[in-house]
Amino acid sequence: MDAARHQETVRREFGKQARHFAEAGLTLSNEDYLRWMVDVLAPAPHWQVLDVATGTGHLARALAPRVRRVTAVDLTPAMLAEGRRLAGEAGLTNVAFAEGAAERLPCGDATFDLVATRFSLHHMLDPRGAVGEMARVARPGGVVAVIDLVSPDDPALAARYNEVERRRDPSHMRALTLAELTATLEAAGLTISQTLTRDVEAIVERWLEMTHAPPDARRTIVEALTAELAGGPPTGMRPFRRDGELRFLHAWAILLGRR
Ligand SMILES: C[S@@+](CC[C@H](N)C(=O)[O-])C[C@H]1O[C@@H](n2cnc3c(N)ncnc32)[C@H](O)[C@@H]1O
Repeated sequence: MDAARHQETVRREFGKQARHFAEAGLTLSNEDYLRWMVDVLAPAPHWQVLDVATGTGHLARALAPRVRRVTAVDLTPAMLAEGRRLAGEAGLTNVAFAEGAAERLPCGDATFDLVATRFSLHHMLDPRGAVGEMARVARPGGVVAVIDLVSPDDPALAARYNEVERRRDPSHMRALTLAELTATLEAAGLTISQTLTRDVEAIVERWLEMTHAPPDARRTIVEALTAELAGGPPTGMRPFRRDGELRFLHAWAILLGRR
């Protein structure tokens, strides 16, 4: 696929999502999960941090009170505008938002104590290139953190899972498996210091609403999940029902690598 066209798809999809992206009640804005991530990153007050593909700056804004300065880069102007607005509302004065691509970060070599990216690699054509860039701008001894969705290990199930994600959001490329995420950090010359995984529950309707998935995509996805619940072929989404709502489990991972 052509890189410029894919960037257009990312900007179009996240341009649509920007206004509601930071709403409460969604898994990405969930404060307990953010607190967990910040604790794992264990920031120090003197740190200079880069958040790559920051979106509306969920992680950047959660880290800001704990560090010296956060630079927050993203491809999509509408997401950055929302991030700036929210940082302003929160009175954060040490976060700077800037437009830029993960594959060509607008930053000098060996600049940051922590370079993080959250839920972005699965949107990229070249995740290895992006993590290589993250390693380049991390200072020696600094931390590169990747937080992302994880594909099932079984290739057929992973293909099915990524197909469902792509139907919901055409900017989804492919979530890597845990082994692929590990290999991606190692290929950038990083030494993995920590790997954590957890399952996170999501409500199907809210998850579909977030990307404004078109009616035919919604129908196909709900049908596939319902069929799986009735004993049909697995989607890799691990659907279940609770409180009358169709839900599923996302697998999340945090990998920390030292430069
Ligand atoms: C699912 S959102 C996650 C946003 C944020 N990191 C968070 O955790 O809330 C993915 C973000 O990645 C950005 N993105 C996707 N591909 C990118 C790339 N190649 N370079 C920079 N940003 C990118 C999108 O614009 C979008 O804001």
